[in-house]
Amino acid sequence: MSLSKVIAIDGPSGSGKSTIAKKLAESLNVLYIDTGAMFRALAYSCDQRNIPLRAGSEMDDFLSEINLEYGKSQDFLIGIDGENLTKKIREHNVSKLASIISQIPQVREFLLNYQRELASRVVCVMEGRDIGTVVFPNAFCKFFVTASVEVRSKRRLNQLNEAGDSDLSLEQIMMDVKKRDESDMNREVAPLKMAEDADLVDTSDMELLDVLNSLKSSVEDRAKGI
Ligand code: DC
Repeated sequence: MSLSKVIAIDGPSGSGKSTIAKKLAESLNVLYIDTGAMFRALAYSCDQRNIPLRAGSEMDDFLSEINLEYGKSQDFLIGIDGENLTKKIREHNVSKLASIISQIPQVREFLLNYQRELASRVVCVMEGRDIGTVVFPNAFCKFFVTASVEVRSKRRLNQLNEAGDSDLSLEQIMMDVKKRDESDMNREVAPLKMAEDADLVDTSDMELLDVLNSLKSSVEDRAKGI
């Protein structure tokens, strides 16, 4: 199997992988693809349309009828049927809904095809949970970015504070983070796990800029060999 031109970045939420993936894409001048945003957009939209977050004909109809749009512009990262959902998908309750919808096999299959199609024509940095294991097992570069639960929860709290969306304590967030890890790692389809051939990157005690520089040089070294 030939290598695909995808740089796969997987890991749990709050590991810093989104910031790293975005900046890595920017500095390599390639497309950045945030697959979590896709699960979030589907979850948000189902919630708005009162579609239950479970497998069934309503979900099948929803998936076959919608027009999911990714990356139209910087301000329009993701939308469904023309509605820009870029900001709405970041609300705290959408994280929970996204975790639930991500366990539905039809949803994963729909997004698997969507993600493969999106990446088929371009070089990209794609971040998620199963990119190096399921979506692009032949990605030419794979990283698994992680950090301790405490560090990840503090980062999440800061994000919520910045967005003015936090009456939550650090303890509550730590509980949410643990619960989400648990369900992401134990779901039946495409669980969060490190690909055997991925590089492990622990960002607990590292500045994101240092992480970024080390990933960038790994990518450049790898690119010389293909
Ligand atoms: O990265 P994020 O927090 O925006 O992801 C939202 C949810 O979607 C999270 O519960 C994990 C899930 N997800 C997934 O199952 N597979 C992916 N490739 C990306 C996200």
